[in-house]
Amino acid sequence: MHIHRLEKIWLIIGIAMLVVFLVAIGFSAFAMGNHPPGHSSAIKLDPEKVYETPPFDNPGLERIGENEYNAYIVAYVYGYNPGNIEIPVGATVHFYVTSADVVHGFNIPGTIVNMMAVPGEVNEMTYTFEEPAEYLLLCNEYCGIGHEYMATTITVKG
Ligand code: CUA
Repeated sequence: MHIHRLEKIWLIIGIAMLVVFLVAIGFSAFAMGNHPPGHSSAIKLDPEKVYETPPFDNPGLERIGENEYNAYIVAYVYGYNPGNIEIPVGATVHFYVTSADVVHGFNIPGTIVNMMAVPGEVNEMTYTFEEPAEYLLLCNEYCGIGHEYMATTITVKG
């Protein structure tokens, strides 16, 4: 098979570009520690042992200040443990979220809280609830047949 000289040059340039990009991405990821944006905390855990691993062996709210809480929440098919959280108005909540099975979403519409619940990882976001209201907490990552029912509430009491 004969390949035209210009086509050969073109192929070589294309392959060279690919190699350059892969090396650049590899260097950025492994040597410089860059990764996709997220709020992943340093905490890692065995997804098979979520309920045996602190702090998720005791999911729920932990009061850490005047009106400040850590919320340890486990997403599972198809819900959140614990669900129906109640907090006082003005509360600052640090959400620590993981999954006991597959990837789920953790979205509180009307707030900036929107992250993934990933097995083996703990994602973190902080939000201050200034208004008394009932917020929806829902899954926005397709996770199976019960996905559309995967929701609970966060009630901010005045
Ligand atoms: Cu969990 Cu969709």
